[in-house]
Amino acid sequence: MHADELIFKIRSRSARVAVVGLGYVGLPTAAVFADAGFRVTGADVKREVVEAVNAGRSPISEPGLEELVRRCRERGTLRAVCSAREACEDADAVIVVVQTPLDERGEPELEPLRSALRGAGESLRRGALVVVESTLPPGGMREVVVPELEACTGMRAGEDFLLAYSPERAIPTRTLEEIRTNPRLVGGVDDASSEAAAELYSCITSGGVYREHVDVVEMVKLVENTFRDVNIALANEIAVFCEALGVDVGRVIELANRHPRVNIHTPGAGVGGHCLPKDPMFLIGRARKQGLRLEVIEAARRRNESMPLHVLRKVERALEGRREPKVAVLGVAYKGNTDDTRHSPAEKVIKGLLRRGVRVCSHDPFAKQDFGGRFTNSMEEAVRGADVVVIMTDHDAYRRMSASELKRHLKRDAVIVDARRVLDRGEVERQGLRYLGLGC
Ligand SMILES: NC(=O)c1ccc[n+]([C@@H]2O[C@H](COP(=O)([O-])OP(=O)(O)OC[C@H]3O[C@@H](n4cnc5c(N)ncnc54)[C@H](O)[C@@H]3O)[C@@H](O)[C@H]2O)c1
Repeated sequence: MHADELIFKIRSRSARVAVVGLGYVGLPTAAVFADAGFRVTGADVKREVVEAVNAGRSPISEPGLEELVRRCRERGTLRAVCSAREACEDADAVIVVVQTPLDERGEPELEPLRSALRGAGESLRRGALVVVESTLPPGGMREVVVPELEACTGMRAGEDFLLAYSPERAIPTRTLEEIRTNPRLVGGVDDASSEAAAELYSCITSGGVYREHVDVVEMVKLVENTFRDVNIALANEIAVFCEALGVDVGRVIELANRHPRVNIHTPGAGVGGHCLPKDPMFLIGRARKQGLRLEVIEAARRRNESMPLHVLRKVERALEGRREPKVAVLGVAYKGNTDDTRHSPAEKVIKGLLRRGVRVCSHDPFAKQDFGGRFTNSMEEAVRGADVVVIMTDHDAYRRMSASELKRHLKRDAVIVDARRVLDRGEVERQGLRYLGLGC
């Protein structure tokens, strides 16, 4: 089919855009399109999300997002509704960006995506463009998206409507900037779909749009996050080994990275969030179906999954011989300066300590999540009288913490377990506190 009319509407900004799923990716995407001059309707099944957006607020913590949402609401270019069907009624372009997690067996859980597609499909107009931005397993477009949309619309992809995959690759804390500057990948079910989707994204990114076969695009997205997961696992493995040898991994990595062809990642308490722990599993699962083992990727996953346990063991060693100890956990988000707690390493550490009967008080400047223990918004309250402080997230607020100030609130012989290496070891030790960093 032809995309000429739609392309004209996109260029003149008269195309109406619907975004299904207003989460960590969907809301920034909707706001960026609205800011670029499109009339955007976002849909989310969570009423509180819809209410927040319509009130000009952002339900998630992401730099610049609240201000952008407010501006778009004031200009009348962005609105939110509770149903995908309603959002797509008058849409020329529909972007679907709902969660695609793993189920308990480690398989892709695609029911939220199917349900979002069915919702959009109920009112999809002939000639409209659908773009899936949610991360898909290999073959996801062919095996899930196309049949689901065709079944619920009674129309044919590439004949009656346009359809493309364009995975989001932005990083939390820089989502808006990266949506506007990252190169974009687009894989349509036919040329017209790729052309229309490329036109749409060229309105919001200065990074260029690359059109490729949809199978290639699916792999690129998964391979990128797998690259990061494997490299973080290498850094973590080196850190654990350096720790056993009594060698400071920070110095090792710093000096190794001065070599022109070495770029070792930063070791940490584990890998979390919605993407990195899951995307390699999409590859692993698919490879197994082909009778292949992705041994390096599987080992990397195991290493990264083991890191919270490694931190837990360090805390347990620090607690030895203490009666009714208290542990302060600083940071429950999986990553610095975000409020996202999905698959956060802090969860395993907190639950492990609670199982052992340890009193846990956690704090986070962005996220509110107790993981079954006690949570407070006051850092002072969290650390007051603590035997051990374990730093699980590299929030800027923790980097700015002074060891002398911290010491005033802790037990006299307290231990700092710095699982993100945010504090200066020398300064902590000068205060008479014991420092157990990751990898040293
Ligand atoms: N979070 C990231 O940084 C990131 C980065 C790149 C890619 N991705 C991928 O983008 C996709 C979305 O991730 P996210 O982090 O934004 O997820 P999220 O959970 O933050 O957002 C998904 C939103 O979709 C809504 N939703 C679910 N079903 C719906 C339906 N039927 N109709 C309307 N709304 C519905 C949910 O209520 C939720 O608010 C995933 O596939 C993820 O792998 C995420």
